[in-house]
Amino acid sequence: MTVAIGWGKIILLGEHAVVYGYPALAAALDRGVTISPVPTPAGGTLRLDIAAWNIAVKATDDHPVARSHAPIADNHGLGRPALTLVGDAQIPPGAGLGSSAALAVAIARALLSHARQPPTVAAISAAAAASETLLHGKPSGVDVALAIAGGIGVFRKSTGLRSFVTAPLRVLVGPSGEPRSTAAMVGRVAEATSSAPDDARLSELGNLTDTGTVALLARELAGLGAAMNRAHVVLADLGVSTPQLDSLCEAARVTGAYGAKLTGAGGGGAVIAIAPRDREAAILTEWRAAGVTGFVATISPAQT
Ligand code: PMV
Repeated sequence: MTVAIGWGKIILLGEHAVVYGYPALAAALDRGVTISPVPTPAGGTLRLDIAAWNIAVKATDDHPVARSHAPIADNHGLGRPALTLVGDAQIPPGAGLGSSAALAVAIARALLSHARQPPTVAAISAAAAASETLLHGKPSGVDVALAIAGGIGVFRKSTGLRSFVTAPLRVLVGPSGEPRSTAAMVGRVAEATSSAPDDARLSELGNLTDTGTVALLARELAGLGAAMNRAHVVLADLGVSTPQLDSLCEAARVTGAYGAKLTGAGGGGAVIAIAPRDREAAILTEWRAAGVTGFVATISPAQT
């Protein structure tokens, strides 16, 4: 049986600005969502079953997960085959780690493989984007691009993902557990900037992506961390941080991180930090004391 994967992701720099055409530095996590298409011998309709997220729905159900994922089967022209898409997830849902794109990509891959259609990037990405558009309104596409490609790269709406090769990078990830809505946060930034792409804060976020990427490629992690710290301040000024995200980032910095910031849409979700190896355990302990169970993800170049 084929197992299809969609990678989770973090945005190191450039979230929100990426919606307005600026670059974002983003990386797939070494974990995500897997889906196996299992034929349902008794027949019936398409089902999705992910025990780790307490999801068990039929494509025909009046349920947000069913409504947002049925378009993937439609995009492939598959109707509602008698299949159960059995999933497993190693990332939390709704935490700013690209869970919805990872799920959409894994489902798109699983259905293509079941239908023996070629798993081209174009087919996977069109189907996953149909689902993401229903969930988020006008996604930039960064989540889907990373969920498909894995690895690390710079994403722009105009050019897509440009992957690059770098030495493995360790990133501390702290899912805050605070619920949030990507669409609401994108709306908040639109209000704060009057949707003007030349807003100085958006262009600063874009510049920070450039300086952070140059620092990462030169393996100057302190420079990358400084760009992340500044990006967090700018994102907070745009109204998408929370007291909890601010304090998790501050705890990481005072415990020795090179840099820390919220990742993804904000308003809750997750924080990330880059730190010297010998400070990682202490940062995770600080986060745990604040009620957050973090983990260290290793960002590696894509394998394929
Ligand atoms: O929080 P997430 O994983 O949904 O990330 C959203 C990233 C944004 O830049 C805020 C929106 C987008 O479509 O790129």
